Amino acid sequence: MLECRSIVKTYSKGATEEIKVLSNLNLKIDLGEIVALKGSSGTGKTTLLNLISGLDYPSSGDVVFRNKIITNQNTSQLSLFRRNHIGIVFQFFNLINDLTTLENICLPLIIRGQNKSLAMSQGLQLATSFELDSKINHPVQLLSGGEAQRVSVARAMITNPDLILADEPTGNLDSTNANLVIDCLINQCKKNNTSLFLVTHNESILSKFDRVLHLENGTIS
Ligand SMILES: Nc1ncnc2c1ncn2[C@@H]1O[C@H](COP(=O)(O)OP(=O)(O)OP(=O)(O)O)[C@@H](O)[C@H]1O
Ligand SMILES: [Mg+2]
Repeated sequence: MLECRSIVKTYSKGATEEIKVLSNLNLKIDLGEIVALKGSSGTGKTTLLNLISGLDYPSSGDVVFRNKIITNQNTSQLSLFRRNHIGIVFQFFNLINDLTTLENICLPLIIRGQNKSLAMSQGLQLATSFELDSKINHPVQLLSGGEAQRVSVARAMITNPDLILADEPTGNLDSTNANLVIDCLINQCKKNNTSLFLVTHNESILSKFDRVLHLENGTIS
């Protein structure tokens, strides 16, 4: 389903210096597989998710999605690829402040051109399962960090994507809400045969995953 082949990612630091964040990284995730990624701060976890989702390009190596190399696609092809196949939970949410909770959750469906009232009723179901039903008409800038985090997870799930990439989706949640979000995410992935690749520092949720990987020294073990 997803394969990273010999990925290298360097960033330039100043005019002459470069830092190599990922070096010869290989990764395979099967259809429907639920995989966690651990690693210290600054090891390149967010960098890796950005490469898989086509938000950034590797310095060398290929990202392969359903046997198709995506690394050689241009930015508009990649944005279509994300819209059709990927759900992303960003580390810092990236919600649209001027929209309400429900509008943010439904946005990926609206962008796909789905009927608005149908989109809203699907969004309402997800809002309810994340205990956000009392907040659906709130502008998202008035939500707490944990509520905003739940909105960002619901938004990533609403299109039933083939792959969900989640960057520390429980970082702002207490353990009850962390379990609520992770259980809901994993249940939906299992039901739809969606693959999940989730970055976390939360040791208490790791037993829920099929595999736990570790990013260290630019590569995965
Ligand atoms: N656009 C960029 N330009 C230059 N350096 C960058 C850029 N993005 C990230 N880096 C550097 O690359 C390294 C990896 O960053 P990344 O955000 O991927 O780490 P992370 O594992 O997600 O960390 P955290 O757990 O703190 O979120 C860091 O040293 C960071 O400073
Ligand atoms: Mg990060």
